[in-house]
Amino acid sequence: MEELKMFGMPIMFDEETDKLSSSDKNVNWEDYSRKYSDGMFGLLAEDHYNVKDNPYYDFYKAIVNDNDKAEFVKANLRYDCTVIMKGCADKEFKKTAGHFHCFIPGKNMSYPELYQVVRGTALFVMQKVDNFNKVNDKMTVEDVILAEVKAGQAVVIPPNYGHCTINISDETMVFVNLVSMDSSNYYESVKNSHGMCCYVYRNDDGTYRIEKNPNYVFNCGIRIAVPSESDTLGIRNNVPIYTEFLKNTRKFAYLNNPENYINDFFSLLKAK
Ligand SMILES: [Fe+2]
Repeated sequence: MEELKMFGMPIMFDEETDKLSSSDKNVNWEDYSRKYSDGMFGLLAEDHYNVKDNPYYDFYKAIVNDNDKAEFVKANLRYDCTVIMKGCADKEFKKTAGHFHCFIPGKNMSYPELYQVVRGTALFVMQKVDNFNKVNDKMTVEDVILAEVKAGQAVVIPPNYGHCTINISDETMVFVNLVSMDSSNYYESVKNSHGMCCYVYRNDDGTYRIEKNPNYVFNCGIRIAVPSESDTLGIRNNVPIYTEFLKNTRKFAYLNNPENYINDFFSLLKAK
């Protein structure tokens, strides 16, 4: 068992089962589910991959210490965790399905999402397209950012950017997110495109290699970024976002009202 110190609450990680647990009875989650490789068919780079029972990722929804619940309700935010197992489907690193967020009522933009890696290293794929509702025609990519995020670092997915997370470390990777309770996910157009616009393969030496998904039209190049810190957004390296949220809950109002913070989201990402 390994204590995940970046969680902001007592959470243990079991390397045998890849499962999380807490010794604190006040720490609970609303739901838990596991995705296997067959649930990823149609989203993978390697179309011929047909192993059905390879565990891909676990999702823990609405994790909270009961004593902090009122703060999350008042802020209209949810704290979740995803655990992506180590390994590949053939040569493609394991990843989440990928989705867009639906629009904020009355605004021409979707909810952003704050992610922090607590174990391992992630590659976040963020893609902006001409129309994320498109299912009968190829989506055109207008911007794509791939952010390499190490344990203790965080990124914000800007509004209108579809996103998925890839485990590029040779160990099980754990990350958490803070998101509006009103945000809902839209998966259809990513499914229809056989995944996100970039596939990430593992080279024999353990490094990664990016390839464009031919089911998209590209109007831009691929940008590689690494995250920095932001006092405005409550992001400090090696400080759990759960802890930072409880210290100043109003600071995270941008997750429900992002319009004045767009530049902050992008300046967090530095070109690699
Ligand atoms: Fe999301």
